[in-house]
Amino acid sequence: MTRANAVAMPKILARNVSKIYPTIDGETVAVKDFSLEVADGEFVCIVGPSGCGKSTFLRMVAGLDDISAGSIRVSPGDEPGKPSNSVVFQEYAIFPWKTVIDNVAFGLEMRGVSRTKRLEVARYWLDRVGLAKFAGYYPHQISGGMKQRVSIIRALANDPEVLLMDEPLGALDAQTRVVLQEELLRIWEETRKTVVYITHSLDEAVLLGDRVILMSAQPGQHLATFNIDLPRPRSIETINGPRFAEYRAMIWEKLSHEVRRAMEQQQ
Ligand SMILES: Nc1ncnc2c1ncn2[C@@H]1O[C@H](COP(=O)(O)OP(=O)(O)OP(=O)(O)O)[C@@H](O)[C@H]1O
Ligand SMILES: [Mg+2]
Repeated sequence: MTRANAVAMPKILARNVSKIYPTIDGETVAVKDFSLEVADGEFVCIVGPSGCGKSTFLRMVAGLDDISAGSIRVSPGDEPGKPSNSVVFQEYAIFPWKTVIDNVAFGLEMRGVSRTKRLEVARYWLDRVGLAKFAGYYPHQISGGMKQRVSIIRALANDPEVLLMDEPLGALDAQTRVVLQEELLRIWEETRKTVVYITHSLDEAVLLGDRVILMSAQPGQHLATFNIDLPRPRSIETINGPRFAEYRAMIWEKLSHEVRRAMEQQQ
């Protein structure tokens, strides 16, 4: 493959993806005919009403769930041995029996990286997010915001081809969330990872994303794409700009309709 081809090829290519779950009442079509291309180094946010199939889609991209129809491909990178993806979930998926530093180094340990090297990488990331002091602590000894930082840097320490994040800041209080949004922006500016990021917060989607994809109420279909043409680097101040509010209003106009539709379906 030539370099030119590699640049043009999307990092994630999902084509007409559907997911049907068998249930006691028959079946649930969770995702329907959903297509998405994500370029190398792009930050794509997905929003949609609760239950529309966002997590299902992300799990299929991660290979954690089977695809009922369609296809998903994540392009391998130039470096062999790199994991194709790392996932960060809303709930702190860290091991309670491992120390903070061993949690961060976990992915590297799984890949057989030497202890010295993996602790060096883990220390680098702990330092980046102000957790160096807590390296030897266990998860129950640190706060929720710290645990979520650990989850995020564990994924980054893995250096995956793509980072898949499902409401990673959803469980945090508003202030911690803002601080971590800023951290994510800073880290992303440096690493330029390919990211698919699910959130319920439109502020977060517009602040972080190059594009915001709106999924319809169940079954989750592609409803709209918004290109967020706000300059980078962005910071929390970006939220105060006039165009930010325009993007948010534009997305909310369409999303609110879907949220109402989803609520009617549940009645
Ligand atoms: N394992 C499963 N078996 C049966 N149905 C499922 C399963 N997992 C999810 N579903 C259904 O698929 C649909 C999509 O669920 P999913 O969790 O992907 O939604 P979501 O958009 O992530 O919602 P939220 O915003 O609340 O997290 C829902 O109707 C859900 O009930
Ligand atoms: Mg979900």
